[in-house]
Order: sequence, then structure tokens, then C-alpha cells
Amino acid sequence: MFLTRLVLINFRNYTHLELELPPGPIVLRGDNAQGKTNLLEAVFFLATTRATFTRAERQVMNWRALQEEPFPYTRLEGRVQRGGRTLQVDITLLPTENGQIHKELRLNGVKKRALDVVGQLNAVLFLPEDIALVTGAPALRRRYLDITLCQIKPAYCRALALYNQVLLQRNALLRQLAERRRGEDQLVYWDHQLAEHGAVLITTRYEAIHQLDQLARQRYRMLSGDDERLCICYAPSFDPENRPAVDYQRPLHLEELWPEQPTPLAVSEVAQAFRQRLERTRREEIARGITVVGPHRDDMHFLVDGVDMTLYGSRGQQRSTALALKLAEMDLMTRATGETPVLLLDDVMSELDARRRRHVMDAMQGVQQFIITTTDWNDFTPQFLARAHRLQVVAGRITPFEAG
Ligand SMILES: Nc1ncnc2c1ncn2[C@@H]1O[C@H](COP(=O)(O)OP(=O)(O)OP(=O)(O)O)[C@@H](O)[C@H]1O
Ligand SMILES: [Mg+2]
Repeated sequence: MFLTRLVLINFRNYTHLELELPPGPIVLRGDNAQGKTNLLEAVFFLATTRATFTRAERQVMNWRALQEEPFPYTRLEGRVQRGGRTLQVDITLLPTENGQIHKELRLNGVKKRALDVVGQLNAVLFLPEDIALVTGAPALRRRYLDITLCQIKPAYCRALALYNQVLLQRNALLRQLAERRRGEDQLVYWDHQLAEHGAVLITTRYEAIHQLDQLARQRYRMLSGDDERLCICYAPSFDPENRPAVDYQRPLHLEELWPEQPTPLAVSEVAQAFRQRLERTRREEIARGITVVGPHRDDMHFLVDGVDMTLYGSRGQQRSTALALKLAEMDLMTRATGETPVLLLDDVMSELDARRRRHVMDAMQGVQQFIITTTDWNDFTPQFLARAHRLQVVAGRITPFEAG
């Protein structure tokens, strides 16, 4: 799939942009602080219906418009070519009187819920700081999984929204129980709800991580050029199959990890295991006033030859792992939707050595459209530039590049 047209009004430093886009490689060049990352963020916003770098959606609204216009609004419009069909995704942000942001989503001109718009355009975003997926905290990896899976599995997206709601309510009740203001019987209802939606998250993550593992393993081998073997393992906050816990602090043998061909987990069985687990942790949860098990505590591990990259990886191994993961994500989406997602690469070339650059460029060959940003045309070969659609950005204005 590919974007054919992008319109941005008051999105970050783009006050008014109308851009026609061809399929194939697109290179956007600009000096620092001109709007390269902002443009990729806008495309990713259209795919996920959410801001990438902030939870406060107000921050993506052009600050001058917010201050100076009587009725400020931000608008993103994307026209997408997908499987012979044309789709139109529009997002409008409006500040409300109580200081909130109202978000209106439209698909082909018709008002829709986020659930119905997420994943109409599929995009994979790769940033130099994505190395934090390997080096950083588990919450980053959960957020990453959620964003990726929401794009390809509507049922996951629904379950995630419900799970988060139930979790809030259940935690509120646990706090009241800790203060002895409520009876324990109410917990049973919330346990059921939590387990039911949580089981959908767990089974989907289990299967998706297994696929990512297979795909990333091939990518990693090509990137690193030797036979180091990458494994991506799901580390659920409790094991639905009650296997002994794995200790990632030491190098592991591959047999100790998850089986090569995991049997798919049944949602009902996982829900039951989850409920049993909640019963066992009930005392602790009431004492602490918080839900201590469940997918909101999940993690995943990246092992190279059995060694956990988060704990022991070299910088180069961590970088290759993050890149392999992103390329695997692209493969996963292609597999799930039958079309390549739009790939958004933010200034990644400067971070990569020659071998990895070549591999990324080779991997791009099969992608219908990708947008790559740079500060310097010299990051690319003349052959590549000759094939690419070249754009340049200065202070939120994009113009075609004219050589000479
Ligand atoms: N809400 C906003 N309203 C107006 N301008 C904004 C807003 N948010 C960010 N900006 C500005 O947009 C400019 C461009 O930011 P962007 O991150 O896209 O730069 P860039 O071209 O990627 O630069 P670099 O090469 O340094 O990564 C910055 O100067 C930033 O301060
Ligand atoms: Mg940038």
C-alpha cells in the first residue's frame, strides 16, 4: 500500500502542507529542525490515530495557531492506495473549553471510532532511538507490541481498550479494599473481566512474538553477517502453561527457551489460568492496592546466542537487534495484510555501517513505498538517488528537489 496524498494543517511546524506522493522510494532532505521527523510522525499518526512522541495530543497542534487563531484546529488527511482501492483517512483535533482535545476521525468521509480507523493505513516507523526497545524499560516494549498489534488485529485493539478500563476500575476497588471500605465479593466480577480481555492480549502476543522471532532471526543473520542467532522470547507476567520461570540473567541454551513450534493457546484456557493466578495473588493485591499480574506487566527478551541483549548486549548487537525487529515487524504486517506497509525511516542511515546500510537498502526493494529522511544527500548512492523521488524541507515547507 502507499500514500498518494498528504494534507497537514497546523500539525507541528506544518501550517499548511499539500503533498502528492508517488510509490517507491522517497527521500526527504532537510537541515536540523525543519520538519523531517514531524512529517513521518504525521504519517504514523494517520496509521495509528495517535501521537507518537507525546501523550498530550495538544503538543502536535501548531503552537502559533493555538495562540493566535480564534478557532484553532489541526487536521491530517491521507489518501491511501490499498489493494486497488483508494481510502481516505482524516483526523481533526479541536481544543475544547475544558482544556481537552477533541479528536474526530473519518474514514472515506464518514465519522468512525479509532478502532475502525487504526490499520487502514499500515506504517512501520524506524528511528535511531528505537535501540531503546532493546535497552530500555519493559513498558517501552509493551507499548511497541500494542502499537504494532493494534495495526493488524482489530480484536487485539478492542481487548486492549477494555483491559485498560477494567484494570483502572479493579485497581480503584483494590485500593478501597485495602482501606476496608468495600467487600471482597465485588472483586470476582472484575477478575473475570480482567482475565477475559487479558487472555486475548496474551494469546495474541504469544503468537505474534513467535512469528516475529522467526522473521527477526533471518533478518538478524543477514544484518550481522555471521551465524549469531537471535531469539525473541515472550516473557508473560505469569506463564499460562505453568512452566518454571526462565532466568535471563545467565546465558541460556536454546532448549531452555520457548518451543520451536508453540501450540496455539486457547483463549478460554488462558483466561482460566489467569483467574487462578489472580486468586493466588489476591492477598498481596489487596495489601498493595494494585493488580500485580497480567499483560500490563509482560515483557519480551532479545537473546543473541542465548545472551540477553538488554542486560549484556554490545551497542552494535543492540542496534542490529532493534533493526532486525523493525524489519521483522514489516514482514509480519506484510504477512498479515498481504501488502507491504509504508516504511518510515528517520535519519537511520547515518547510524549504520556500510553492511547494514546495504541490507536496509536491499530490504527496501520489495516495499511499495518508503519515506526516508536525511540531512545529507551523500548518505545515499547516486544510483539510489536517481530512482528516488527527492523532496526538501525548509521550515515546514516541502518542495521537490531540483538538481543543479
Ligand atoms: N506543536 C508545534 N508547533 C510548531 N512547531 C513545532 C511544534 N512541535 C515541534 N515544532 C518544531 O518543528 C521543528 C521541526 O521539528 P522536527 O523534529 O521535524 O525537525 P527535524 O527536521 O527532524 O530535525 P533534526 O534533523 O534535528 O531531527 C522544530 O523546530 C520544532 O521545535
Ligand atoms: Mg528529526
